[in-house]
Formats: sequence, structure tokens, C-alpha cells
Amino acid sequence: MSQAIRRRYFTTVSLMASNASRTHVRGSDSVSPFFHRPCAFPLYVHLYACYSRAMSVIAVMNLKGGVGKTTLAILLAHELAGRGGRVLLADSDPQASAHAWSTWGLTKDTIVVQPTKKITRKLLAELKTKFDTVIIDCPPALGDQCILAAVVADAALIPVLPGALDFAATTVMLETLSAADTERQTPLKKLFVVNRADSRSAMSNALVKQLKGFEGCKVAKTTIPQRAGYTKAIAGKWRSLSRDLQIPIESLADELLGEDA
Ligand SMILES: Nc1ncnc2c1ncn2[C@@H]1O[C@H](COP(=O)(O)OP(=O)(O)OP(=O)(O)O)[C@@H](O)[C@H]1O
Ligand SMILES: [Mg+2]
Repeated sequence: MSQAIRRRYFTTVSLMASNASRTHVRGSDSVSPFFHRPCAFPLYVHLYACYSRAMSVIAVMNLKGGVGKTTLAILLAHELAGRGGRVLLADSDPQASAHAWSTWGLTKDTIVVQPTKKITRKLLAELKTKFDTVIIDCPPALGDQCILAAVVADAALIPVLPGALDFAATTVMLETLSAADTERQTPLKKLFVVNRADSRSAMSNALVKQLKGFEGCKVAKTTIPQRAGYTKAIAGKWRSLSRDLQIPIESLADELLGEDA
């Protein structure tokens, strides 16, 4: 089994195990675990539906602007599409940067980019036969889009820049996310990733330590370096990233969708 296929296999299995009662069956007739309704089908039918329609929903969010949400959303979409996944990049930011970028014809054919103001459970239920992954690019503001994304996503990827002001904004955002948790069956998985990191800078290392102090959150082992290559990669017609830029994106995708996610 190739590395990519193996990764994808584990992703499906791990999502099936962790989310069987949530995303995969939302909106269908057999959604009883989430909505506490009686199950219309035998358990094996229910499980088969979960297995065959596994779809993961990742919200890339931070109330702070310019931290790399759109950049990472696009790079992750390409990474997952490169593994053979059908990817929807749902642009819920009114600035619509990701959607504007896709209209320049720069993206891979297998990625659908769609302006989507409100990601609801009903909408996700309609999408689950069409896509393996939905990546939501959230706006840098506290609003309906962010809260809805926090309610329906399987995981939130939270890019953070090394800087004191960025850290302060994170505290406010986590309060918002914990409010959204009251609408969920299980708390939203939150994965911080330090973006534009300089491994030699004490600031990046100090940030990782501080982020680890937030209860219920994980900090990605991967950090995304500060490299103009990422900006260039999405500024022209899509070309594969150079290997040194690709590796952090690959490991970030593994951490997001892996078994221990
Ligand atoms: N790892 C990186 N290395 C270098 N430049 C980066 C990196 N990540 C993001 N950038 C640059 O930082 C700027 C802001 O990135 P981006 O637009 O993705 O942030 P954002 O969080 O989506 O912003 P907004 O909050 O306005 O939606 C862009 O010019 C982008 O090219
Ligand atoms: Mg953005």
C-alpha cells in the first residue's frame, strides 16, 4: 500500500471511529446519536453509511486577521486533493479571497472552491456524498460564519503568528469556541499551528509553550516556516511546492486527520 493511500485509509478509519455519531450521518434518516432520535435502520446499515460516506470538516479559523488562514486552507486543500481526495474549500469569509483566487483559474481541477456564508449541518449532509473533506476558510471576525463553523466542524485549525498581540487575541477566540461547544455533542478539536515560524527565534518557541497551556487544545508538532515560496505558490498557476515547503504541509495534514487527531 503506498504511503498516500495508507494515510487515506487510516484517515477514513479514524474518522469513522471518532465521528461516527456526528458529521457522517448528519441530516440523514439515521442520525439518532446526534439528535437523539430513534434509529430507522439496523446498526450495520448505520455503520456502513458512516464508513462509505466519511467526510471530514476542518475549519481554519482565528479572529485575528492575516495569520495565514486562507493560505493554509488553500495549501491543505491542494495537499488533500493530491492524495486523491475530493475537496471542497468553503470560503465563508466575506472578503472571499479564496474564491477570488480560484476564479483566476489557478487551482487544481479536483478542488471546488465555493463562497459559502453559512455552513450548516443540513448543507454538510448534502455534501457528504460529493466530498471527502470540507475545508472552511473563516473570516477574521467573530460572527455567524465562525460560530457555525465551530459548531459543525470536526476540527479547528488555528494558525497563530509568533507575537504577543497574536497570543492575546487567541484567548478571546477560545472563549468564543467554548461557547460553540455547548451546541456540540463533544468539544471541538482545536489544533494550533504556528505559522510564519522561524525556528531560530525564541518568540516561536515561547509561543508553542504558551499555547500548550490552553486546556483542551493541541499544538501541532509541525510549524509552518516563514517562506515567500508559500505566497508565490498561490499567486500564480498552481505548481507543486518545492519539497522543503511541501513537507510541513504534509505533516500538518497528517496531524489534522491522523489517528491521534
Ligand atoms: N508561512 C508563510 N510564509 C510567508 N508568508 C505567508 C505565510 N503564511 C501566510 N503568508 C502571507 O501572509 C499574508 C496573510 O495571509 P492570509 O491572507 O492567508 O491570512 P488570513 O488569516 O487569511 O487573512 P484574513 O484574516 O485577512 O483573511 C499573505 O500575504 C500570505 O501570503
Ligand atoms: Mg483569509
